[in-house]
Parts: sequence; structure tokens; C-alpha cells
Amino acid sequence: VKSIAVLTSGGDSQGMNAAVRAVVRSALFHGLEVYAVQRGYQGLIKDDIRPMDLRSVGDIIQRGGTILQTARCKEFLTPEGQQLGAENLRKRGIDGLVVIGGDGSYQGANKLSKLGIRTMGLPGTIDNDIPFTDYTIGFDTAVSIVVDAINKLRDTMTSHERSSVVEVMGRHCGDIALFAGLASGAEAILVPEVPYDLDDVAARMSDNFQHGKRHSIIVVAEGVGSGEDISRQITERNGIEPRVTVLGHIQRGGSPTHNDRILASRLGDFAVRQLMAGDSGKALGIVNGELVATDIDKVVNTKKPFNREMYDLALRLSQ
Ligand code: F6P
Repeated sequence: VKSIAVLTSGGDSQGMNAAVRAVVRSALFHGLEVYAVQRGYQGLIKDDIRPMDLRSVGDIIQRGGTILQTARCKEFLTPEGQQLGAENLRKRGIDGLVVIGGDGSYQGANKLSKLGIRTMGLPGTIDNDIPFTDYTIGFDTAVSIVVDAINKLRDTMTSHERSSVVEVMGRHCGDIALFAGLASGAEAILVPEVPYDLDDVAARMSDNFQHGKRHSIIVVAEGVGSGEDISRQITERNGIEPRVTVLGHIQRGGSPTHNDRILASRLGDFAVRQLMAGDSGKALGIVNGELVATDIDKVVNTKKPFNREMYDLALRLSQ
């Protein structure tokens, strides 16, 4: 490849900017031309594409959000939309594309690859729901935001000997709840991957209070249902009235952690090197600290395995 483009797509995540910076600077380092597509696949269809230089990605490594903006684009799901997107790249001589986003964005990258544009997908989502990578860009920051929020809730819960239900994001994946729950000593973690028993949760809460605990934190992944519902069902069982906090989009903002910046930088550079080596249709990730490239087809058709060992550990330690 001689000329590549980069876009961010789907829900934004912290570290997307660091990834864009890495793609642009690595491409320029290797003597490639590099372009940015604004607003994800929508910008590809609307031909909103501009050349990038070293300075155009200055002062962004520390910023949340994405300077390229993002969109969830229905039109790109159609063959006509995909064809138009490929043509808009080709007419500028762009033959490689780095897509930073979640699994929906990967499907688009796969289609473009089949139309002859070399594509690489980088896992940009707070949800950590993409297989063949241990972590996605943004996940570490989202978890630290949840942990910070739970620390604050704990202070006031303990003073009042209360209970808290904290609803976190993650779509169908329980990883944000699992990691934040273990890191903050939650008494219960409800995730879509593991069947839960609210009778047991409610009984343990009462028992814990009787045995000297002064608070209880229940983390609920949004894939399980709403925090309000869970709280109500707990009250019906044990009479305790947990206060509910829905953290929502706060989890998607703010400055990325050093882990997310480093992951984004490594993956952005890796994407450029893979494109230069002539590879296409790959989703990039990190497994046991090593950079890996996996066929997008395989990635979008596989469910991310859930870390049951960590889940059981969290429960054991929170007694
Ligand atoms: O995929 C990221 C995510 O934040 C999910 O955790 C959540 O379910 C969804 O996006 C929210 O979507 P929106 O930003 O469209 O409200």
C-alpha cells in the first residue's frame, strides 16, 4: 500500500485518539500518505475525507472521545453504500483502511476487504466484548471510572449502613461489571454470562449485615437488565432498599489510562505494518501481551469467552 485512511466507528471509547495518532504517525514514518475519514462509515459514503500530517494528531493522546467523530451508519450496511465507500477511497488512490471500533464496525471493514480495499480492524470499545484480544481500547479506562465511582458510593453507603446497586455498561458482555466488581470488592456481580439467583443474593445481603458488614455493593451489567428492577426485586425478598446508580455514558468519557494509550499506540502501529505487509481483512488484538492478527470473519462469528475463574474469585473474596 502507498496510501491509507483511518476512521473511528460505533460507540466511542477512550484511547481512540491515541490509536488515530499512532496510525497517522506510523504511516508517515514509513513514507505512506495518510487520510482521515470523518464520522465513520457515514463520512466514507459522504466523501468526508482529508489528508493528515504529523501536526494534525498533536495534543490528542490524552483526550477522550475521537477527533474524527463517530457514527452508527445504517446506509453502509447496504451493498450500494459499501461500493460507494470503496470508490471514494479508490479515487484518491487510497488502498488501505484502518477501522477503529467494535464488532459492527468490523463487519463493514470485512465487506470493504472483499471489495479490494485492504482493511485492518482495531478493537475500540469500552465493552471488552471482542474475542481474540484480551483487552479492547477503552475498557481499562471504563473500569477505572466504575471503580472510582464505587469507592465514592462505598463512603456514603458505609456511613448509613446501606446497600447500592450500580448499573454499568457493556452491552451483552459482563466484563466491565466483572473487572470493576472484583477490583472494588462488590458483594454480588450480575452478568449475562452467568445465571444468577436473586434469592441467594438477597439472603447473603441480610446475612452480611447481621454479621457486621456495613454496606453492600451489587454491580449489575446492563446486559442483565436494569439496576432499578434488580433493586426492586431485592427489596421484595429481604426488605433492604438498595440505592441505584446508573453510571451511563460517564463510563465512555475522560482521559484514557496509560494502559489504553499504550494498547492503542501498539495496535495503531501494528495495523500500519500489517497493511504494508499486504495483509487484509484482519482484526488486531493483544493476547498475553503479544500482538495478534485474526481473520475478521472468525472474530465476528465467535463469542468472547467469559472468565469464570475471576468471577468465582470475586464472590469468594467478598464474603
Ligand atoms: O458499545 C458501547 C456502549 O457504550 C455500550 O456499553 C452501550 O450499551 C451502548 O454503547 C450505548 O449506546 P449509545 O451510545 O448509542 O447510547
